[in-house]
Amino acid sequence: MGQDGAVSSRAVRFIDPGEAREWLIAEQRSFGIEPDDQRLGELAPTTEILRSCAAFDGTAIVATGGAFTTTMRLPGGASVPVAAITAIGTRPTHIRRGLFGEVMDQLHTQSAELDEAATVLLASEALLYPRFGYGVATTGAWVQIDRRRAEFRPQISVSDRLEMFVDIAASDQLVADLWQRAGEHRPGWLSRPPQLRAFILADHEVERGGAMGFTLIVHHDTDGSPDGYCLYRRTLKWEQGQSAGSLFVHELVTSSPQAHLALWHHCLNIDLVETVAAMPVPVDDPLPEALADRRQYRTIGLHDQVWLRPHDAANLLATRHYAVADVITIDVADVGRFRIDGGSAGAAVTTTTAEPDISCGRAELGSLVVGNSLRPLVATGRAHLGDPASLDRVDRFFRWPVAPYSLLDF
Ligand SMILES: CC(C)(COP(=O)(O)OP(=O)(O)OC[C@H]1O[C@@H](n2cnc3c(N)ncnc32)[C@H](O)[C@@H]1OP(=O)(O)O)[C@@H](O)C(=O)NCCC(=O)NCCS
Repeated sequence: MGQDGAVSSRAVRFIDPGEAREWLIAEQRSFGIEPDDQRLGELAPTTEILRSCAAFDGTAIVATGGAFTTTMRLPGGASVPVAAITAIGTRPTHIRRGLFGEVMDQLHTQSAELDEAATVLLASEALLYPRFGYGVATTGAWVQIDRRRAEFRPQISVSDRLEMFVDIAASDQLVADLWQRAGEHRPGWLSRPPQLRAFILADHEVERGGAMGFTLIVHHDTDGSPDGYCLYRRTLKWEQGQSAGSLFVHELVTSSPQAHLALWHHCLNIDLVETVAAMPVPVDDPLPEALADRRQYRTIGLHDQVWLRPHDAANLLATRHYAVADVITIDVADVGRFRIDGGSAGAAVTTTTAEPDISCGRAELGSLVVGNSLRPLVATGRAHLGDPASLDRVDRFFRWPVAPYSLLDF
């Protein structure tokens, strides 16, 4: 580094396989972690080396960013290829010199070259990514329930076709299939790359945060086929002789309402547990409707989850379906102007020079394309209608009745 603090010989590029270990160490250090050999061994198989980018100061890696190759569901159920950006970090001695921005540029370019429709990410801070054109695609709720007071309504009959799977790593294919099916009707749902699934199911000690190892419960439909699972951790605790344990629902993944209710019912009926918590939960979770006292379902936070930056807007707009049939023209600044002839069966999208029904930026499209409401964007001046009286019409077109949601942790 030069005496003025500037990076002396700086290069930003994708790494060679032989640099993977140093890249991982650098990425962990950005988060204040000094990884030992065991941790590096656990993390190494998750990395897609050809998608791992680094900024070098001389030979030292001083900033990182990477991507997972995955797909995202859009309204109507079709998927598009996307890159899930991860491992973003800059060495604390090298921050605020533009390295993060340069790494992001390379990741975006690579994703576009791979013909992916968008990049997505989870943000450690909400201020970091709007500048690159990311908008909030999925929102998750943090839910906390006082277990002893969370009775189901007596009229509700709950299936007891539950099975505990003791060998969690051996359930890999079952978990993969159920994850896939759960996303079929959920816009925003990200498929889980196999190496990330293996990482979760390996249940590494360091991930447990003092809680016990995972419990895996599977629900079966009336034909005996699995249609949902729940992966949770318990913490045993005693206060003045009374149990004060907790249960954290790590993944509740279902493809039927019966499985959803049965698995929640199971979690709410475990002895020695006082508090049941889950995050992220979809904002349209039906569980409160099943509780005798719905206030026991406490939403203690609503958080942005997946942020989306479209780069193939035409592909995204043509792949998703629309709640009502209409023809709408949208102008997306720095991206293009598109005529969408869409409906519940799909859409034809062409570029156009016609006057737009709606104008917005790339980040706002990232939110609309998965079916979020247009209303807050118009109300805050982030999207503009050609005709102010058309709000209901344009909003009905883009909004999807199932809330966008994703459970993927990456
Ligand atoms: C966040 C982080 C990656 C930024 O790296 P950096 O190399 O300092 O960022 P850059 O110098 O390229 O900054 C790019 C822009 O982002 C802004 N920015 C950077 N960090 C920011 C922050 N924490 N909050 C708001 N803006 C920030 C910069 O001001 C700059 O804006 P400008 O172009 O208008 O000047 C780095 O601080 C870090 O490693 N943090 C800890 C790990 C982390 O949170 N990673 C993100 C995981 S999702």
